[in-house]
Amino acid sequence: MKIAVVGTGYVGLVTGACLSDLGNNVWCVDVNEEKINALKNGEIPIYEPGLEDLVMNNFRAGTLKFTTKIHQALADSDICFIAVGTPMGEDGSADLHYVLGVAESIGQYMDHHMYIIDKSTVPVGTAQKVRAKVQEELDKRGSSLTFDVISNPEFLKEGTAISDCQRPDRIVIGTDNDNAAKVMKELYLPLVRNNENIIFMDIASAEMTKYTANAMLATKISFMNEISNICERVGADVNKVRLGIGSDKRIGYSFIYPGCGYGGSCFPKDVQALIKTSKDFGYTTKILNAVEEVNFEQKHVIPRKVVERFGEDLTGKTFAIWGLAFKPDTDDMRQAAAITIINELTKRGAKVKAYDPKAEKEARVCYLKDNKNVEYCDSKYTVLVDADAMILVTEWKEFRQPDFIEIKKRLKNPVIFDGRNQFDAHSLSDKGFEYYQIGVSS
Ligand code: NAD
Ligand code: UGA
Repeated sequence: MKIAVVGTGYVGLVTGACLSDLGNNVWCVDVNEEKINALKNGEIPIYEPGLEDLVMNNFRAGTLKFTTKIHQALADSDICFIAVGTPMGEDGSADLHYVLGVAESIGQYMDHHMYIIDKSTVPVGTAQKVRAKVQEELDKRGSSLTFDVISNPEFLKEGTAISDCQRPDRIVIGTDNDNAAKVMKELYLPLVRNNENIIFMDIASAEMTKYTANAMLATKISFMNEISNICERVGADVNKVRLGIGSDKRIGYSFIYPGCGYGGSCFPKDVQALIKTSKDFGYTTKILNAVEEVNFEQKHVIPRKVVERFGEDLTGKTFAIWGLAFKPDTDDMRQAAAITIINELTKRGAKVKAYDPKAEKEARVCYLKDNKNVEYCDSKYTVLVDADAMILVTEWKEFRQPDFIEIKKRLKNPVIFDGRNQFDAHSLSDKGFEYYQIGVSS
């Protein structure tokens, strides 16, 4: 099939690479010239395991191409994915101006029938707005070309994006048109085990499914973080509680890990956008507001523990941070808990030394660029030298079984704050560490 993917970010690049790998001819389009030039030179703009090989193999084979010119891609495609960002607007709603900007360009440049697929996460009603925008542009040209708008939300997660895309749990397709449904089925059948994994529905339900999935996952995390806060106060251990409840198949183990609050480009903005959509339609959310409130407070739990141990004034103290990205296996820093933790510590006079296997550039250039009290180090051990304590924020694999003798040698005090409950408390206590976790009283 001949496909254009407009927006070459986490979703667009992964989708384009995976679809081209199936033998489709794919154009990835982006307005960011630097990004497209880098891709043409074999440089992958983001860190995502497996992505570089997949992109380069298909780029070399000629099935995956990059351009800044949407008209070039549209001329050579029958299907056009919209995969641009939908960031949080000032009032919490999803900012649709990138999506509608793409719709406008499609209407201006398409020269034959197109299947236009919304892959960006967008509120109910957006497909209608996309349809109206494309039609408006066709009308301006006096064109009678036809097109279909389909909702096809994306459920991949960063760090495992390739396998999520190649072996999805399900594909959700929102369409009211049989031909469009047939084309979508043909496109996706190679990725799913059987027809049942492709779920067809009306467009509004498909748009709503995406927000519901993210809101449900965010709710599980905030619920468990709230439980962890209770555990700490009543003398229970949330790690044991998690095992105790996860073993009930109705509850399950996934997404009940307490931590320092969910981050990333999606849960925070999507929960907010759903709250706003509800409000616009006259319903005031209750659970979703609490999910966000708990998450906001959770990002302050580690700084509070540090203050309880070292005092409100942290002048003269240095803290070593392990992990900056919002989760392991990505360099994405959007809404990362590390940002709040580091800013809370430095606000109280502390200095911070930070190490992340992949996210240093993002942190340095974008997210912590105004914070002059952060020094970046190139390994998990050098970052510890002369620090008053170590704080684990992101659970990268290389942090899971560190050499605690090396850690103790470098730290000024053998103190560890663990925002992801990665280590064994008894073993650390035997080794002479003071060990603070989430959801365990100390
Ligand atoms: P991103 O910010 O990484 O990438 C978006 C890209 O779109 C950027 O490169 C930008 O330059 C480009 N762009 C903006 N306007 C354009 C235009 N008019 N023409 C061409 N390119 C344009 O975003 P992302 O993380 O890939 O997210 C995209 C959408 O997918 C969002 O709605 C997001 O909520 C959703 N989503 C993201 C993930 C994820 O893990 N990141 C997962 C599922 C769904
Ligand atoms: C999430 C969803 O998992 C994807 O299905 C969805 O497509 C995507 O959002 C999106 O719409 O963009 P992602 O944000 O990449 O994917 O990563 P997750 O693995 O969901 O983690 C999100 C945050 O929750 C991270 O900060 C992580 O540390 C935190 N988390 C996750 C917990 O605190 N506890 C858990 O048990 C699980």
